[in-house]
Amino acid sequence: MELDAAIDPQKAAERVGRPLNGHWSIDRLIDVGATAGVYEGRHRDGRRAALKVLHTSVAAVPELRRRFLREAYVANKIDHPGALAILDDGLATDGAPFLVMELLEGESLSRRLAKVGGKIPYGEALGIAGQVLDVLDMAHANGILHRDIKPGNLFLTTVGHAKVLDFGLARIRDGIVSSIPTLSGIVIGTVGYLAPEQARGTPEEVDVRSDLFSVGAVMFRAMVGRPTHEASTQLETLMASMKDPAPSLAVALPGVPEAVVNVIDRALAFDKRDRWRSAREMQVAIRSAYASLGRRPSMHVPMGPGAGADTTEPPPTLREDDAASLFEQIAFGEGHDEAVGRERRRTREVLDAMGKGGREDE
Ligand SMILES: Nc1ncnc2c1ncn2[C@@H]1O[C@H](COP(=O)(O)OP(=O)(O)O)[C@@H](O)[C@H]1O
Ligand SMILES: [Mg+2]
Repeated sequence: MELDAAIDPQKAAERVGRPLNGHWSIDRLIDVGATAGVYEGRHRDGRRAALKVLHTSVAAVPELRRRFLREAYVANKIDHPGALAILDDGLATDGAPFLVMELLEGESLSRRLAKVGGKIPYGEALGIAGQVLDVLDMAHANGILHRDIKPGNLFLTTVGHAKVLDFGLARIRDGIVSSIPTLSGIVIGTVGYLAPEQARGTPEEVDVRSDLFSVGAVMFRAMVGRPTHEASTQLETLMASMKDPAPSLAVALPGVPEAVVNVIDRALAFDKRDRWRSAREMQVAIRSAYASLGRRPSMHVPMGPGAGADTTEPPPTLREDDAASLFEQIAFGEGHDEAVGRERRRTREVLDAMGKGGREDE
C-alpha cells in the first residue's frame, strides 16, 4: 500500500461541484492537507457545513479510516468552544469517510501569515496563544494531547476567537508514518512545529510539554516571520528539530521585550524539563508578558455573531501601534469570560441544530 501524495490533492479538487453522497454535495474547496481535503458542503436540506474528506489513498488503509472516524471525536470531549467540535460523520459514495464540522468564518493562522507577509504583531500573537492555551489547558485536564499544533490547525474567526482544529487527528499522521515509514518525510505534513521528542518519534516521551513547545514554535514563527528550524527539505527540518535547540527569540528578533522572549524561549526549551509545566502556567506568563507591552485591550468584546466583522477592513492589527486586536481583547480583556461563554452557547446551538438533521437520514 502506497500513498500517492501527488494524486490525492488532484482527486480532492475534483470533488468540487459534485455530490459527495446522497445527502451532501461539495460547493467549494477550502484547503487540501496531507490527509484530507476540507470543503464547504451543502446538505440536501440546505444546511452548510465544513466537510473534511479523508484522501482516497489514506482511506484505503482500514486502520487509518477507523482512526479518522474515532479519534476526531475526542474534540467533543473538550468543554471549550475553542476546540472545534465534530458534528457528524459520513461516507462518500466512493467510500471515503468524512467529518462534518461547523463552517467557520475567518482564516487559518497559516493563511493569515501568508497574506500579511509572514508575521503579525506580538500583541496579537500573544492574544492568539493566550486563547489557544485556554483550550489546551482544558484538553490536557481531560488527558487529551493535541500533538499537531501548527498555524494550519489554528483558525482565527472574524469575531476574534481562536479555534483549535484537528484534535485527535495527529494519530492519523502517526499512523501514516508507521504504515509507510519511507514516506514519513513527505506525508506527515508540516514538520516545523514538532518538539524534539516528537520529531525523534518517541511517543512515550510526548506529553503536555510537547504541545506547549509547539505553541512556542507557532508564536516564534508568527512573530519572527520564519520557523525555528529551517532546512531545504522536510526531512532535514525534521532532523534539525531532533538535534538542534531552537534559537532564542532575542537573537531572532532583536528588540523584542524581554518578558516576551522569556515566555517563548522557555516553551521552546530543548529539554522538556526546562519548559513550562502546564498550559495554565504558560498562559499566566503570557498574560504578564502582554501586560508588560503596555497595550490595553478594551473592556468590551464584540457582541454576538457577525459583530466586529467590519473591523477586519482594514485589518486591525498589522502594525505595532494599532489598537489591540480582537484576539487580544478576548484573551486578555475584562470581557474574556463573557465572550467565551457566549461563544460556548453559540457553538452548542450549532451542534444541536446539526444533531437534529444530521443523523436521522443517514
Ligand atoms: N470547520 C472549518 N471551517 C472552515 N475552514 C476550515 C474548517 N476546518 C478546516 N478548515 C480549513 O482547512 C484547513 C485544514 O486543512 P487540513 O486538511 O487540516 O490541512 P493541514 O494538514 O494543513 O492542517 C485549515 O487550515 C482551515 O483553513
Ligand atoms: Mg489540519
